[in-house]
Amino acid sequence: MNDTGEGATKGIAVLVPGGSGQLGRALAAEAARHADDVQLWAPSSAELDVTRPGAVVEALADLATGAREAGRAPVVLNAAAYTAVDAAEDDENRAFAVNADGPRVLAAVCSSRRVPLIHVSTDYVFSGDAGRPYEPDDPLGPRTAYGRTKAAGEDAVLGSGARAWIVRTAWLYSGGAGDFVGTMARLERERDTVSVVEDEVGSPTSADDLARALLDLAGPVA
Ligand SMILES: NC(=O)c1ccc[n+]([C@@H]2O[C@H](COP(=O)([O-])OP(=O)(O)OC[C@H]3O[C@@H](n4cnc5c(N)ncnc54)[C@H](OP(=O)(O)O)[C@@H]3O)[C@@H](O)[C@H]2O)c1
Repeated sequence: MNDTGEGATKGIAVLVPGGSGQLGRALAAEAARHADDVQLWAPSSAELDVTRPGAVVEALADLATGAREAGRAPVVLNAAAYTAVDAAEDDENRAFAVNADGPRVLAAVCSSRRVPLIHVSTDYVFSGDAGRPYEPDDPLGPRTAYGRTKAAGEDAVLGSGARAWIVRTAWLYSGGAGDFVGTMARLERERDTVSVVEDEVGSPTSADDLARALLDLAGPVA
């Protein structure tokens, strides 16, 4: 049983730290399409900084109160992250604060409030040299600062005692101006031929598809 008590039958109330990011925006759009079942609060880092324990405690208290009043079950879906992979090499402490300390704080507060936590992670926790698709239980072996901090975030969540799920994704796209799919679509319109690096292998993931899957998961776990 969670903070709303056993009477929570009117869907879910979801707190999405990192709500202003690519995935956070996709989650908000998907929730808006299912407003009867999903109430979602998607704060930016200015509104909720996951590295500040006091702010997280307050946000979880607000979530619990709002969920109780609406008769919904509370869930935290963590989309907050330091995602600048290259910059993290020179700023690993900052990346660690957001990607490892932040989830540790969120998980500790979720655990004490008995609110389930879904934490989003990345294929960068693996070494990348398996030569085959990775399985969830494959050994971690991050090769980058970003990957190390995200692996530490997974450990912190799984060791917290919270009811928690780790969802790893890869190479998110929304088709917007800055991402690979959006850039390719633009270049295809502007040029006769397009050159692309051929030494990278990845699994592009639609942020909209992931948002749908995460909210599908959030319903049953709440
Ligand atoms: N993008 C990808 O290709 C990719 C691939 C694999 C996994 N992932 C994972 O998917 C998740 C979502 O990524 P995304 O692509 O949506 O990232 P994004 O667009 O870079 O968004 C990151 C979000 O985290 C927020 N944030 C940063 N520092 C924070 C802090 N201290 N406290 C609270 N929020 C903070 C940012 O807020 P502000 O903008 O307001 O500062 C932003 O809303 C992350 O866990 C990421 O590791 C992403």
